[in-house]
Amino acid sequence: MDGNGRWAKKRMLPRIKGHEQGSQSVISAIRSCKKFGIKYLTLYAFSVENWARPKDEISGLMNLLIRFIKKYEKELHANKVRLRVLGRMEDMPEDVQVALNKVIEDTSCYTEYNLNLALSYGGRTEIVSACTKISRKVLSGALKPEDINENNFADNLYLPDIPDPDLMIRTSGEMRISNFLLWQLSYAEFYITDVLWPDFREKEFYKALLEYSNRDRRFGKVQSEQ
Ligand code: IPE
Ligand code: MG
Repeated sequence: MDGNGRWAKKRMLPRIKGHEQGSQSVISAIRSCKKFGIKYLTLYAFSVENWARPKDEISGLMNLLIRFIKKYEKELHANKVRLRVLGRMEDMPEDVQVALNKVIEDTSCYTEYNLNLALSYGGRTEIVSACTKISRKVLSGALKPEDINENNFADNLYLPDIPDPDLMIRTSGEMRISNFLLWQLSYAEFYITDVLWPDFREKEFYKALLEYSNRDRRFGKVQSEQ
């Protein structure tokens, strides 16, 4: 969800105003998913690298996150959206953890729509943590090194039951993966738009889906005969 800072700068506003506007795009994206029947939405809200930002921007983002969760909790229930977090939750401030854990628990009964927030998330960190979990299983004798495969490796990632993404949308024209879902994006289709995240609303979402629907996904195989 990139481009919040640039959105604010263009308007001579403080960066946090861009993040606030961006949080409205989050709501728009959740509504679009329901409208277009997309069961899984994973949003890269805060990376492990983002901890290196100025302290006041970090605390502004954390406050925004709490306000956002409290404001839209009802809407998640109304739409049967299950909230989950992937990332190092333990790095988040205590009050953010408390607010998130409540909604995570209260929405855990829903199966229809899934909103996954990547918080203090890093793709490399996730893969290393999976390796740690697997090493423990090997040490305890529960798993043999020669039995490690792609499937049981992936079972040790943060949210193992979530299918790999079909589409990865990157806003603000950046041509980078930025340490996002390194394992899971293997065969995802990429859609990169110059639109800044705060301006990425339903029409833009629809454009991304339209382009996705015209992609020919071969997964390394040759094109099947029509
Ligand atoms: C993304 O917008 C929001 C977060 C990382 C939380 P940026 O803050 O990276 O916006 P730009 O890149 O400065 O425009
Ligand atoms: Mg950025």
